[in-house]
Amino acid sequence: MSKLWGGRFEQSASAWVDEFGASIGFDAQLVLEDLEGSIAHVTMLGEQGILSPEEVGQLTDGLNSLKEKATSGQLTFNVFHEDIHMNLEALLHEEIGPVAGKMHTARSRNDQVATDMHLYLKRRVTEVIDGITSLQHALHQHATEHVETIMPGYTHLQRAQPISLAHHLLAYFWMLERDKERFTDSLKRIDWSPLGAGALAGTTFPIDRARSAELLGFAKAYPNSLDAVSDRDFILEFLSNASMLMMHLSRFCEELILWASEEYRFITVSDTFSTGSSMMPQKKNPDMAELVRGKSGRVIGNLMGLLTLMKGLPLAYNKDLQEDKEGMFDTVKTLQGSLSIMAGMVEELTFHPDAMQQATEQDFSNATELADYLTTKGMPFREAHEVTGKLVNHCVKERLYLRELPLATFQSYSDLFEEDVYIALAPVTAVKRRNSYGGTGFDAVRHQLDEASASLTYTS
Ligand code: ARG
Repeated sequence: MSKLWGGRFEQSASAWVDEFGASIGFDAQLVLEDLEGSIAHVTMLGEQGILSPEEVGQLTDGLNSLKEKATSGQLTFNVFHEDIHMNLEALLHEEIGPVAGKMHTARSRNDQVATDMHLYLKRRVTEVIDGITSLQHALHQHATEHVETIMPGYTHLQRAQPISLAHHLLAYFWMLERDKERFTDSLKRIDWSPLGAGALAGTTFPIDRARSAELLGFAKAYPNSLDAVSDRDFILEFLSNASMLMMHLSRFCEELILWASEEYRFITVSDTFSTGSSMMPQKKNPDMAELVRGKSGRVIGNLMGLLTLMKGLPLAYNKDLQEDKEGMFDTVKTLQGSLSIMAGMVEELTFHPDAMQQATEQDFSNATELADYLTTKGMPFREAHEVTGKLVNHCVKERLYLRELPLATFQSYSDLFEEDVYIALAPVTAVKRRNSYGGTGFDAVRHQLDEASASLTYTS
C-alpha cells in the first residue's frame, strides 16, 4: 500500500513515525462533517464543469454510501492513512475505484480540515446553548418558589445582608444568560467557509467558493485563503466562552458544596447526585459538584494550550495545527457532561428555608438596617453608622444580637430609637424593602423573574 502523497518519496516512514504523525485516533470524530464537506465540494466542481455529471454522480453515491456506513459504525480507519481525510479517500477508492482520485481536485487537506471543524463547532455550539437553557430552567423553577425565602448574603464570605434565595439563584441565571449570548454571538464567526482556499493560495480551477459555502449552510466564504487555512480563532473563541461558562458553573458548585456541609445545612443534594465513602459510613459527598468544579481546570487548560500553540506560528498551515483538535473535542464533551449533570442536580436540590432563616437571625447582617433606621429619622448617615457600630460593639461584648437589646439600651445610644426599631431589625424587613431595580426586595425579585421568563421564552 502506498501513501496518497507517496509519489515524491523513495523511502517509507516506519510504523512508529506514522503513529506519531497520525490524527485518525481523534479526528475520526469529524467523519460526518468531512463527508458532507466532500459532497458539497464535488457538487460545486460539477456545477462549474470541472467534473463531468457522471463523475459527480459516482463520487456522491460513493460518499453517501460511506456516510451510511459511518452512521451505522461500519467504517474502520487505519493509522497508515494518517487522518480522517486520507482514510475516507482510501475508503472511497475501495467503494468506487480510481474516480475517487478526482474528489480532491482544487482542494487541500488544509482547507478541508478547517471546513470540517467549522461545521463541527457550529453544531456543537448550538447544542451547548440548549444545555445552558435547560440549566436556566431548573434555576428559574426554584427561584419562582423561593422569592420570600431569606438567606444570608455574603461579602468576603462573611454574612453581610440578608437576601432572597431567589435573588441568589437568579444571579447565576443571568451569568448563564450572558454565556449563552457569547456562544450565540460566536456563531457569526464560525459561520465562514474555508473550503476552496486550497493549501494556502487558492487554485487555478474556476471554483465557486460562495456556492460550496452555501451548500454547507455557511453565511460566507473566508475572503483570504491564507487566513482561511491558518487561523484557529474560532476555536479559541469557543474555548474562551467555554472557560467562562465553566468558571461560572464552578463558582456555583463551590457554593453548593458549602451549602451542603454541616456548617451551613442550607441544602440537601439528592442521593442520585451524591456518593458515599468506602470507609466512613456516615458520609454523603457532593461529588458531582466537585467534579464540575474540577473540570473547569481542564477547559481553561485547553484554552491556554491552544493559545500557546498558536502564538508563534508563521502563516499559513503548520502541522502544529493538528494539535488544535483534542482540546476542542475534550471541551465539547466536558461542557455537554457538566451541563447535563448541573441541570439534573439543580432540579433535584432540596432547600432548607428554616436553616437559612435561622442563619440570618444569628448575625449582625441587620446592622445596615439599624443605620438606615436612624438616617430615616433624621440623623446624618455617617453619624448613624457610628452609633450602630457602637451598638454592635456593645452586643459583641455582651454576647447578644441587636434584636436582643432592650429598648432602654438602644435609647442610651440615641433618643431617636423607638419601639419600631425591632421591626426594622427583622431580617425580612431588610430584604423585602430593597426594591431598587435589580435589588433583593420581594417585588424587585418578582420583576426580575418576569424578565428571566421573558428571555427563556425568547430563546427556547
Ligand atoms: N490532520 C491534519 C490536521 O489535523 C490535516 C491537515 C494536514 N495538512 C498537511 N499539509 N499536512 O491538521
